[in-house]
Amino acid sequence: MVKTAKLIFDGKTFELPIVTGTEGEKAIDISNLRAETGLITLDPGYANTGSCKSSITFMDGEKGILRYRGIPVEQLAEHSRFVETAYLLINGELPTREALSRFSGLLNDHSLVHEDMRAFFEKFPRGAHPMCILASMVNALRAFYPEIPERTEEEEVNITFSRLLSKIRTLAAMSYRISLGHKVVYPRHDLCYCANFLNMMFDSPVRPYTIDDDIVKALNVFLILHADHEQNSSTAAVRLVGSSRVNLYAAISAGIAALWGPLHGGANQAVVEMLQEIHDCGGDLAPFLSRAKDKNDPFRLMGFGHRVYKTYDPRARIMKKMCDIVLKKLKQKDPLLDIAKRLEEIALKDSYFIDHHLYPNVDFYSGIVLRAIGIPLNMFPVMFAIGRLPGWISQWKESHEDADWRLHRPRQVYIGLKQRDYVPVDERG
Ligand code: SDX
Repeated sequence: MVKTAKLIFDGKTFELPIVTGTEGEKAIDISNLRAETGLITLDPGYANTGSCKSSITFMDGEKGILRYRGIPVEQLAEHSRFVETAYLLINGELPTREALSRFSGLLNDHSLVHEDMRAFFEKFPRGAHPMCILASMVNALRAFYPEIPERTEEEEVNITFSRLLSKIRTLAAMSYRISLGHKVVYPRHDLCYCANFLNMMFDSPVRPYTIDDDIVKALNVFLILHADHEQNSSTAAVRLVGSSRVNLYAAISAGIAALWGPLHGGANQAVVEMLQEIHDCGGDLAPFLSRAKDKNDPFRLMGFGHRVYKTYDPRARIMKKMCDIVLKKLKQKDPLLDIAKRLEEIALKDSYFIDHHLYPNVDFYSGIVLRAIGIPLNMFPVMFAIGRLPGWISQWKESHEDADWRLHRPRQVYIGLKQRDYVPVDERG
């Protein structure tokens, strides 16, 4: 097996080690490149750069494979529940029945938030985007739950994991209810993770929310499909911010901020806005497809394309099936789903999309499921964040346990002006 790569520069030959992953993927280890050659690498957007070795999630972008701790996401979506998958990602193994019951109990114990946090919600402008509120409130959790010196670091970290996983639901639901001026619904100890969230979102004194097992299952699948995705932009943000050894709440808040962007987790909201615009314009796809292909037009077909997947996103396939299941169960029809299916059918036969390897990604159909459940449009990225949280936590944990871990501090190639002198203000042109 090839163990090194040769770099020839300035008449010298340098041997760089090759690192081989579990599935045979190879990387050039450039940890000592600058020390040995004086060179750095340049890779805008890090499309060719690995930031770490990881044992959590495996993706094969060419074959459309996604596995959490070796288990295919299709099997987890079918057989697991979100809390069990969260445990798997964070601890590396599926929990025993007893461990799962203990973990679920921990999440229930930490589902309330400090009552003083309500004042924060009430002072946000009513139109504030829920991701803005969520990023702020998650960061604020450190102020309400400071480190307890008597606890060991492991105890502190584990209680922080449980607090985050449990309270992110409560914060999301509170933000929604308060934005409507509705009474806050407290979490209940007798409901599971997803049913609790739905109840906190939709229960009402005049119309008690009816827990529908099929809808709870659909939400579990949604959250499982979003739970981790190796070194995506928001996970890279959590690792980078976490590398400064700041507390986990601050690192997760940075991940929420990165996820908010329409090119990343905000795409699920942007997809539905795009489908709605197509619907409102009479359903004609042609203008939108030609804009997507026009290099001079910044318009992108939202929900299409991916940095890693150059084939169908395996999560999109499952999510597309969930749309039909949920709409059938709720006896709903959604014209936006019909538009999405037509868009996919035409795009996948179009040479531009074929040549650019552009396929539906997880965000293309996910919003249809959320709409059917009754989640408001601007909370779609929040649902992505709730799903991605165990992934962020597991990646943060892995980075903090990595002996090779260092402060993230990329280099650059300077292309600015050469040295020049300061000019007093009266002598400036
Ligand atoms: C997520 O990384 C992850 O794992 C993310 C994620 C996760 O689980 O964490 O999977 C979640 O973020 C999914 C992606 C959601 N975003 C969108 O759906 C937004 C629309 N898609 C894109 O903007 C785009 O495809 C990206 C941002 C997702 C990926 O873009 P890249 O890899 O940076 O590629 P690029 O922007 O350089 O585009 C390459 C070419 C360009 O054309 P050329 O200049 O080479 O001719 O493909 C074109 C682009 O114009 N292109 C698109 C397109 N996406 C790429 N053209 C039209 N519509 C699109 N959607």
